[in-house]
Amino acid sequence: MRSLLFVPADGGKKLDKAMASGADAVIVDLEDSIAPEGKTQARALAAAFLKETAGQAARPRLVVRVNGLQTGLTDADLDAVVPARPDAIMLPKAEGGAAVAHADAKLTAREAIAGLPDGHVKMVALATETAQALFLCGTFRGASTRLTGLTWGAEDLSAELGAEANRDAEGRFLDPYRLARALCLAGAAAAEIQAIDTVYVDFRNEAGLRRECEEARRDGFTAKLAIHPAQVAVINDVFTPKREAIERAKAIVAAFAASPGAGTVGIGGVMYDRPHLARAKQMLAGITAAGESAKNG
Ligand code: COA
Ligand code: MG
Repeated sequence: MRSLLFVPADGGKKLDKAMASGADAVIVDLEDSIAPEGKTQARALAAAFLKETAGQAARPRLVVRVNGLQTGLTDADLDAVVPARPDAIMLPKAEGGAAVAHADAKLTAREAIAGLPDGHVKMVALATETAQALFLCGTFRGASTRLTGLTWGAEDLSAELGAEANRDAEGRFLDPYRLARALCLAGAAAAEIQAIDTVYVDFRNEAGLRRECEEARRDGFTAKLAIHPAQVAVINDVFTPKREAIERAKAIVAAFAASPGAGTVGIGGVMYDRPHLARAKQMLAGITAAGESAKNG
């Protein structure tokens, strides 16, 4: 997955627009974009939307962002949406692997009741939305086989920290949020799952979005959240591995295969060592996985 587009569960025609946006995943939101008094209706709308679209060929992945475990709303969210077979849920305000394990147990029970295979519903966790969560980013490894990705958020965190702003005048994240971003990246790498960069809220600023995508890819993120359909093409473009990068990865794998046991190889006057080989293999595996999921719809 390269792009994951948020759409409020009560978004009406936005839901259809999101399906046609080219996003790799659509995240139907029951959390921050839905007012407390709208939750019940939003759950019903989300379930109806999932039932209507789950059978479509070549559709994006269908993800539901439920309310966090601290809210007391998660059970009713899952009761409503799990029978409608989402591909994944997004768990906001996740405080480390323990929160993921907790949500995993809730999913397991509902899958059994709904007659879904164990582990059908995958999970993406929002790992940096509380101050406490920052200290737990290293605990996701092994928490649940459902967990396929970690992402991070600056909005809830800045409220919790009591900050006046989270970006500087040029739109760059300030230190506390750069730390959250780095902890998400390291936590995902440690857990061997996908690192997904946070939303870019200035949705008319395409150049700013592209810059942020490129910085994320440079650092090791392989996807980004979107809030507007216009952001999807830019995200997909930046996070689709470029032909030169693929060719270089293949050349590195081939060079090591040609000299078994070598610690380093030289290609075109540049030295590559084992970490380069690991990264090259990772990238090629990501491409294969993306191809498979596209084929399987
Ligand atoms: N998914 C699908 N369609 C969307 C969309 C989204 N996230 N955001 C906008 N659109 C649609 C609009 O409905 C509009 O459709 P139309 O041309 O048929 O009227 C079109 O794209 C252009 O939208 P635009 O006028 O540029 O923006 P807006 O003012 O309607 O919406 C937001 C702005 C921020 C309210 C909207 O983008 C949105 O709801 N984003 C998601 C919010 C969310 O889920 N937040 C929680 C996670 S942080
Ligand atoms: Mg939030």
